[in-house]
Amino acid sequence: MKTYDIAVIGGDGTGPEVIREAVKVLDAATKKFNLKLNYTHYDIGGARYLKTGEVLPDSVIAELRKFPAILLGAIGHPDVKPGILEKGILLRLRFELEQCINLRPVKLYDERFCPLKDKKPEHIDFVVVRENNEGLYTGAGGFVFKGTPNEIAVQESVNTRRGVERCLRFAFEFCRKRDRDKKLMLCGKTNVLTYAFDLWERAFHEIGQKEFPEIKRDYAHVDATCMWFVKNPEWFDVIVTDNMFGDIITDLGAMIQGGMGIAAGGNINPQGTSMFEPIGGSAPKYTGQGVINPLAAICAGQMMLDFLGEPKAAQAIETAVIKIVRDRIKSLAAGKMGYSTSQVGDLVAAAV
Ligand code: IPM
Ligand code: MN
Repeated sequence: MKTYDIAVIGGDGTGPEVIREAVKVLDAATKKFNLKLNYTHYDIGGARYLKTGEVLPDSVIAELRKFPAILLGAIGHPDVKPGILEKGILLRLRFELEQCINLRPVKLYDERFCPLKDKKPEHIDFVVVRENNEGLYTGAGGFVFKGTPNEIAVQESVNTRRGVERCLRFAFEFCRKRDRDKKLMLCGKTNVLTYAFDLWERAFHEIGQKEFPEIKRDYAHVDATCMWFVKNPEWFDVIVTDNMFGDIITDLGAMIQGGMGIAAGGNINPQGTSMFEPIGGSAPKYTGQGVINPLAAICAGQMMLDFLGEPKAAQAIETAVIKIVRDRIKSLAAGKMGYSTSQVGDLVAAAV
């Protein structure tokens, strides 16, 4: 029997609740396909930080490196100043484990849940490849004259040839494998960010022309991309973009696919430890009430199986999710699903 070791970080707020359901569904799928997942749970998050002062011990990072995949619930605690846990846990894991790609599918499963008029599942099915290790997220920058009227705050966007190229190559390969419209769009801001996106645009066309001649190349500014997400989402196949723009456009993407209750993503290290997570936050106000939607976490589990090289088991989860979303769920929003968190997990597991 094929076995995979999986690290599980429930994290903060509703994170552990949704991860419980993801594990329930993963267990149903792996059983069906004669696979086994061995879970190791880690209690990192806001609660541990408040109790012990530890954010993410180096020893835990060293252990996590040994796993092919991590399943993550959510990071973010109302009693911890914003930035400490996000930077200290989530971003540190993305950086130190060199999860250089953040893969975020935007797929509408049922038109009832799309806020856009007349848009159906056949109109909304694309993938955003977000660079995940560079850009404005590296923490480069600083203050001068902090706290005085003359203070200066500089936040630098870091774009290395190596980082940009590996992200672009991943996106081209992904587009080739996806085999839909064979269309890759670079989302940037070449009219203002004339250094960063000059590099991106040159590398995009060089690599595309030489290594992926069959993939159509397209470019749009990030503001126009937002406009088209709303107006013509059917135009998109695969989009590649930097870390900050990818962060922003995927929240908009999540809304047009039905909301944070369904949106999942993967932080990918193609050669190492990847980490899969619902893209929404810890939703602390719903903690412990059993009302949060676990589908995003379940879909994160599905992406994880796919990346582990188990596409059939992954497909079984997606098919089950689609069925439950279309036939049972009343709303994808917390508290309005018509079922509790664990009932939704039960429904999907049974459908698998
Ligand atoms: C996301 C989140 C994170 C990000 C935050 C929590 C640091 O918004 O995964 O999109 O900005 O990447
Ligand atoms: Mn975000």
